[in-house]
Amino acid sequence: MPPTEVPANGPRWPLIAAVVVLLGAPAIAWFGPWRHAPEPAAHARGARLFDGTEALAGTLVGHTEAMPADTTRCVQCHAGPKSAKGALPPLGPTLDRAHLLQVLSRRGGPPTAYDLTAFCRAMRRGIDPAYVILPAAMPRFAIDDTRCAALWNYLIQEPGP
Ligand code: HEC
Repeated sequence: MPPTEVPANGPRWPLIAAVVVLLGAPAIAWFGPWRHAPEPAAHARGARLFDGTEALAGTLVGHTEAMPADTTRCVQCHAGPKSAKGALPPLGPTLDRAHLLQVLSRRGGPPTAYDLTAFCRAMRRGIDPAYVILPAAMPRFAIDDTRCAALWNYLIQEPGP
């Protein structure tokens, strides 16, 4: 054995450990459990709020008790920008970019369009951009700013596949 050769069970271990760490970390990142988590799509949360996967507390006008979670899902009463699971024949208008951002006379009021503020006011207090009260069939929602913005951004997304 030439005197320069390093013994196999000696100082090679740090090298092996370094290789394991260097190759292992990306492998764990690639195959790790979070790889199978839902895609972090920009509209994922809004889509969940719209189809009711993430429940929202809603009440009927004049009532204080929360409606059963199943009856407050937007898809129960509205079509959205995409075909959503659990959709029923609509009771309210299609909630998409074309409908919400278009200047329209809604419920006989002066022509208006929605923006985020007007949308959240309609959700929480049932008041539309022209300050006309929405029909009682539309629940009033306890929705915070983050979820309201997620829902809004989902609804006004550009039409696509
Ligand atoms: C039980 C039925 C029902 C549910 C559930 C429901 N809506 Fe509505 N919604 C209505 C009705 C009815 C109207 C009023 C339609 C009209 O005036 O022509 C309405 C109106 C609206 C409007 C006003 C549209 C406009 O042009 O002024 C918005 C915005 C809206 N709903 C958003 C939602 C969202 C978002 C959800 C879910 C978080 C939801 N709605 C859940 C029934 C419902």
